[in-house]
Amino acid sequence: MSKDGEDPFGGRSPTSHEHMTGLPWDASYREGPAPWDFGGPQPAVVEAAGRFTGDVLDVGCGSGENALHLASLGLRVLGVDVAETALRRARRMAGERGLDAEFATADALRLERLGRGFDTVLDCGLFHTFDADERVRYVKSLEAVTKGTLFILCFSDEGENTGPHPVKREALTAPFGRGWRVKTIEKARVRTRFHDENGAPAWFATIEREPSDE
Ligand SMILES: C[S@@+](CC[C@H](N)C(=O)[O-])C[C@H]1O[C@@H](n2cnc3c(N)ncnc32)[C@H](O)[C@@H]1O
Repeated sequence: MSKDGEDPFGGRSPTSHEHMTGLPWDASYREGPAPWDFGGPQPAVVEAAGRFTGDVLDVGCGSGENALHLASLGLRVLGVDVAETALRRARRMAGERGLDAEFATADALRLERLGRGFDTVLDCGLFHTFDADERVRYVKSLEAVTKGTLFILCFSDEGENTGPHPVKREALTAPFGRGWRVKTIEKARVRTRFHDENGAPAWFATIEREPSDE
């Protein structure tokens, strides 16, 4: 609890990343742009945007640049995050740009609470913040809402000047078992405020839901 009696984690358990930093995610957004808010949508997301279809969920949308880019292409987008400051910024930018995107507070580890399904789900920079146990829970949570394709853009461990949570290729595929098909994992880049304009080494994974035979 904070001094004013408010739970900074909004009733959920802190994630491993929040335990590590000692701060709720929201704190990253309170004093100016967060370290990953470089001022636009991720180039890898822009490049893949033609592969997004139908209803889109952006999980861990932050201040919404990716969701807003997808909305600007006419896609129906819901961005969810646990950081209220980021969501307020995303809604404000949607208004300023005249874009019709929805932003809501939701825990990526409890997506079933949304009670909705999405044709395309984007994770840009969230997967790599979870530890191995959380990734297993996260994939279960994604199962409840993903009807078609899941795209994950995360830091990779291959190359120079890696980001703060570099993910090995095997660690990216490990939590996806029955009910999923890892279609491709391509080398990509993630832009941040602490890398030059070429960004950091990344993976761009395309993962599809498969009907389970149960
Ligand atoms: C590295 S940032 C990436 C933000 C955004 N996707 C982008 O590309 O700018 C990770 C985001 O995930 C959010 N996040 C972390 N844990 C979460 C959880 N359990 N549920 C929902 N969002 C979460 C954080 O608040 C943060 O906005």
